[in-house]
Amino acid sequence: MNKRYAVILAAGKGTRMKSELYKVLHPVCGKPMVEHVVDQVSQTGAESIVTVTGHGAEMVKEHLGSRSSYVLQEKQLGTGHAVMQAEELLGDKEGVTIVLCGDTPLISSETMEALFTHHQETGAKATVLTAGAEDPSGYGRVVREQETGNVLRVVEQKDASEAELAIGEINTGTYCFDNETLFRVLKQVGNDNSQGEYYLPDVIGILKDEGETVSAWKTPDFSETIGVNDRVALAEAEQTMKRRINTYWMRQGVTFIDDAQTYISADAVIGSDTVLYPGTILNGNVTIGSKCKIGPHTEISDSVVGSETVIRHSVVSESEVGSSVNIGPFAHIRPASVLADEVKVGNFVEVKKASFGKGSKASHLSYIGDAEIGSDVNLGCGSITVNYDGKQKYLTKVKDGAFVGCNANLIAPVTIGENAVVAAGSTITEDVPSQSLSIARSRQTNKENYIK
Ligand code: UD1
Ligand code: CA
Repeated sequence: MNKRYAVILAAGKGTRMKSELYKVLHPVCGKPMVEHVVDQVSQTGAESIVTVTGHGAEMVKEHLGSRSSYVLQEKQLGTGHAVMQAEELLGDKEGVTIVLCGDTPLISSETMEALFTHHQETGAKATVLTAGAEDPSGYGRVVREQETGNVLRVVEQKDASEAELAIGEINTGTYCFDNETLFRVLKQVGNDNSQGEYYLPDVIGILKDEGETVSAWKTPDFSETIGVNDRVALAEAEQTMKRRINTYWMRQGVTFIDDAQTYISADAVIGSDTVLYPGTILNGNVTIGSKCKIGPHTEISDSVVGSETVIRHSVVSESEVGSSVNIGPFAHIRPASVLADEVKVGNFVEVKKASFGKGSKASHLSYIGDAEIGSDVNLGCGSITVNYDGKQKYLTKVKDGAFVGCNANLIAPVTIGENAVVAAGSTITEDVPSQSLSIARSRQTNKENYIK
């Protein structure tokens, strides 16, 4: 097999997005468009992936990191000019180069693979990935020879004649090139067109005129090839990607009660026999085990959840949740929390930067922040860790088997010993030794016959 290289075009500002965020960084299902493209192309075994950056170069690099190398296109003089910037890294390589746009987030590695195969089989110097569009407006059109059906060239919408505008086959902006030929021919591409830009697709026409073999691979799935230039296309891409992700997880054995109302990030992983109820949103890197019940109306971000866990009407962020845990309704698990197996965090409980050992419970109306809770601890209704004095945060420790009565304030730093009991309504300011009872409230006095 020929060696493979990839060039991703990501230098444009994306004026039509009307956004402060650079176009290729707009997320689709939670992941920047350009990242989708890089993730898919890296599955095709490309030796090196070169991303052409310009607007927002630093931010693009931050997102892609070491998955790509980079060249800078200082002025955005067109897609052909953009690819030319990769010459310093790829110019002398032998092999096949796939060129992709950072704004076509849905093109799958399977389609890229089919393009590579077609390119190789036809022995072409250049192969363009095309699609049949119901509404081709905005895309370059693929002009073929009438008798043979062979590709002649690609014409941009703004340069097309009436007859060419009627062509329904579009250029998806993805191509395979013989690498050396690509950089040789790019030098011949001019900018004498309606936009005054160096067009990459002109390479096709030039090669054809030279008598070289050029070819086209028409994908049957137009929905994959959408180029996102504005927010309307962005919403469409989001819908298509969402359907793709949800369908994938259904095939892996995940139940969706209402697929249309369930939002799964491209990087989420879900175990089989888990049921997702309407309004479930999984953001970023989320891993959910098997046989869980998630939702309704639950948002989980960058967290790991074990198996057979139930999370209803709740928010979980940057935390670890074990197996057979019961969260909610209306609980908030804030970053850096760790809930071991069989923990219960019930309604109106907020947990922040706190660990709960196995089987511990905070069932109702509590704030547990900056705390280490042992195993089999019961935090009664309204237990509060008083962790903040207005300047600093302090740690509360509650050791294994302790029982904290209702409405207790644990003023940190403080430790409740093993199996200790804190009486309801206590405000605890000093450590409680293990195995003991602590009562910290004023005695009740009854004044008999007071009303008389
Ligand atoms: C391009 C194609 C068009 C095709 C469509 C598919 C050209 C001339 N036209 O049009 O035939 O149907 O994609 O979606 O190639 N970019 C740079 N540097 C530049 C210009 C663009 O890096 O100087 C990048 C952009 O960031 C973007 C990609 O190249 O990711 C495509 O550019 P864009 O301006 O969106 O091209 P289209 O008009 O959509
Ligand atoms: Ca585009």
